[in-house]
Amino acid sequence: MFVSDTHLPQVLAPEAYTSPEFHQREIDKLFLPGWFFVGAKWELPYDGSFFTREILGHPIIVWRINGEHRAYLNVCAHRMCMLTHKATGEMPKLKCQYHGWEYDETGNTKRIPDAKSFRPLENGLLGLRTFRCETVGQCIFLTLNENAPPLDEYLGPGHEMIERVTASHWEPNGTGDRVIECNWKIYLENTVESYHAEAVHPTSLVTFPPENECFHTFGPRWSLLRTAGKPDNLDKMDIVAHRWLGVTRDPDYYNMLVYPNLAIGKMPLMSWVDQAIPCGPNQMRIIARGFTQTGLKKSVKARIMRFFVRKWTGAFLAQLVREDCSVLPDVQRGLRSPLQPKGGLISAREERVFHFQKFIDGAMSGSGPALERPAEWLPADNPLGQDCRAGGCGSDACTPAGHGVVE
Ligand code: FES
Ligand SMILES: [Fe+2]
Repeated sequence: MFVSDTHLPQVLAPEAYTSPEFHQREIDKLFLPGWFFVGAKWELPYDGSFFTREILGHPIIVWRINGEHRAYLNVCAHRMCMLTHKATGEMPKLKCQYHGWEYDETGNTKRIPDAKSFRPLENGLLGLRTFRCETVGQCIFLTLNENAPPLDEYLGPGHEMIERVTASHWEPNGTGDRVIECNWKIYLENTVESYHAEAVHPTSLVTFPPENECFHTFGPRWSLLRTAGKPDNLDKMDIVAHRWLGVTRDPDYYNMLVYPNLAIGKMPLMSWVDQAIPCGPNQMRIIARGFTQTGLKKSVKARIMRFFVRKWTGAFLAQLVREDCSVLPDVQRGLRSPLQPKGGLISAREERVFHFQKFIDGAMSGSGPALERPAEWLPADNPLGQDCRAGGCGSDACTPAGHGVVE
């Protein structure tokens, strides 16, 4: 059931999706203070492995050394060349491509060719700019803000969610990085509503779930959809796959958005962590990593099933992204039109869009995450319902309003 029993207003005006000034204020207020999902641990398999990213115009290099993940501004302290332009690779020493300056893991200069020509040069005078880097599950995060709260505090219940959906029996299954010609909020609004399923995903998702199978939970900085899987909906191949892999099937679908921009999802055989990073008011970049249920068995049968599950889930997720990306630039074009229709309305099914917009509006106006309906929109202590099930409540539909209650 949905929390709201009526439609809801469109909170953000078209300018919030198109204006360069609004975009710059979002960078300052929403993004620079926070954390960014930049990749997965499997991308840095050895000491010396690195990958590079561009985050809000900042070139970044993430490097593995002594088993730890470290992040630096990818700009040399000599004459500001990027240490490397490669997307990924091996670098036993953190070394600039231009004149060969080398840095230690703290970012301090370690070796300067022909150092005497730089005399006088004090130790520690020059170095790379470093950033805090933390991991959760198989995911790597960094922040540009040295005063940012710890990652677990920033992510709230999203921290536990990532741990669950990227645990050791979930293996990497691809990346979904791409640039989309739309505002970052349009992409995320798409991820929090299933209303478009019939029109945009007619052969993959086919339809949206009925209201009585949808459970929405809201916190000040996140929202969650759990769609209860029903036995009569079980897909035969899915059941066989779980049996061959030797894992208990959790039929529920989870979709969490941690504001402003981190999406986490889980289906029975696949999960994903997905971040939208703005490149401008009209363009964004996805950093997305997929995971597949590996199971616990090592038999030949399990290995064969794992191969097919990887193929199927990878293709399924790629199709969903392709289909969504085919329509999102047209939303942006519509919002950029100088003339607008007499419209803008959010259905109860799309109430997570409303909650997201309320958060953006509150954060941008300085009034905080204003809550229109306080009783229902308060954070749940137990957003995933796990403690209740373990604690003998028996219900998987608990909310702040009570056990087994779905507003
Ligand atoms: S710019 Fe990096 S060594 Fe000269
Ligand atoms: Fe979609």
